[in-house]
Amino acid sequence: MAAADSLLLCSLLWISSLAQGKELIVTCIQSEECVLPCHFESDGKGARIMWYKKKAVVSCTRYGDTHFVIGHNSPADMYRGRTDLYADQVLQGNATLLLRDITPQDQGKYFCITMTAPRTDESGVISLVIKAPVREVHIERLGDSVSCSAGGIYPAPAVSWSTEPPTDAQNLQNSTRTQINLWGFYDIHSSLRLLGNNAEDLTYICSVTSDMNKRTAFLKHQAPIQASPSGDVVIPCGFPVPRSFNLTWSFNRLEPILSLSVSGQKAVLSVRGRWAAHVLNRSSPSSGLQLHSLQLQHQGAYTCELSTADETHVSHTNLTFTGDGESSGQVFIYVVVIGMLSYFLLMSYGTLVFLLLKLRRQDRGGGGQEPSTELQELNQSNGGVEINTAR
Ligand SMILES: *[C@@H]1O[C@H](CO)[C@@H](O)[C@H](O)[C@H]1NC(C)=O
Ligand SMILES: *[C@@H]1O[C@H](CO)[C@@H](O)[C@H](O)[C@H]1NC(C)=O
Ligand SMILES: *[C@@H]1O[C@H](CO)[C@@H](O)[C@H](O)[C@H]1NC(C)=O
Ligand SMILES: *[C@@H]1O[C@H](CO)[C@@H](O)[C@H](O)[C@H]1NC(C)=O
Ligand SMILES: *[C@@H]1O[C@H](CO)[C@@H](O)[C@H](O)[C@H]1NC(C)=O
Repeated sequence: MAAADSLLLCSLLWISSLAQGKELIVTCIQSEECVLPCHFESDGKGARIMWYKKKAVVSCTRYGDTHFVIGHNSPADMYRGRTDLYADQVLQGNATLLLRDITPQDQGKYFCITMTAPRTDESGVISLVIKAPVREVHIERLGDSVSCSAGGIYPAPAVSWSTEPPTDAQNLQNSTRTQINLWGFYDIHSSLRLLGNNAEDLTYICSVTSDMNKRTAFLKHQAPIQASPSGDVVIPCGFPVPRSFNLTWSFNRLEPILSLSVSGQKAVLSVRGRWAAHVLNRSSPSSGLQLHSLQLQHQGAYTCELSTADETHVSHTNLTFTGDGESSGQVFIYVVVIGMLSYFLLMSYGTLVFLLLKLRRQDRGGGGQEPSTELQELNQSNGGVEINTAR
């Protein structure tokens, strides 16, 4: 019964509140705490603070002695667990609301009602505006197009493409799709067809611009690098390295090699698993990925991803081995073995023919039994060689 009463109380209070005029605009950034100010005249004994967004109860809390009101209110589902008041300051007249995990759905007009034993007050309207900057732009090559995406932005972002060296703008055919996600933020996805026969030599540049900021992503394919097995190689990232950055190297797109985070003088490096034995000059891999003791399995595509405060640079470099490495050695051994076997076969066949001819001559000359046993032995040894070659 008590709960129903207080609900009614809150609803009635809401009706009277919209009358008052002046409006305060508060802009909050997604991922930061959002503070809505409200102040009242406190008698220092007890207060009941109610926050509303239109009809919805955002927060309804009692502090100190509140015998002058009955019941409690529970906030609407969408605000449950996301609000706080500065409890230690409420009885001093500070009813400021703290709202966490804000989304565009929280945008709108708020007001607060404060009740003390002597009086009830209501604040003016506080208009909440939410903004979410572009945080990350993901760029990648998919077949014969380059795709660029970013998410969780508010209000709606825009995408623009360019290349380095520059390409005529009308040759840049892009298709862009903007969607609103479950929480009301914008996700954007754009794809650009790869152009002409110099498509491989271009750096593709995608910029995502929002109300608050702009982030740009660069993608390029570098000329393949050749190395020799068990040798060393340096794979450059191919971008100028700034003072503060996060850098990752990965192999065949999926396998992480190392990550490096540099902020002014401070650097944190971590090299992953099997790569620890092959990464050189651990102190400064920003100059390029330095690998040593290369093996055949290290052939493949190396991706450098470098991100700074407002840019992301991605480069792909293929590593190949000169002269096919170990496999050519194996082929050489096979050739030698087959050659030797053929030589022995030919030799024994030649000897056989020679002996047969000699035998016939001896037969004509009326020779005895001896040569026929000699022929049998030769047949056997010939058969032996044949079995060897079959293996
Ligand atoms: C109310 O409390 C918040 C949080 O401590 C503070 O930022 C704000 O300045 C206070 N307002 C006043 C008028 O004291
Ligand atoms: C890409 O598409 C957008 C709209 O979808 C358009 O405004 C823009 O001019 C296009 N071209 C480039 C190079 O960004
Ligand atoms: C690097 O990454 C950390 C953690 O994700 C982030 O706090 C920092 O701002 C990043 N630095 C740069 C220059 O992007
Ligand atoms: C490591 O890199 C730094 C800077 O790039 C260079 O000065 C230093 O000589 C390198 N050390 C080795 C062992 O290669
Ligand atoms: C790199 O290798 C991949 C296959 O592993 C191939 O599809 C791609 O065209 C190569 N890129 C260059 C620039 O050689």
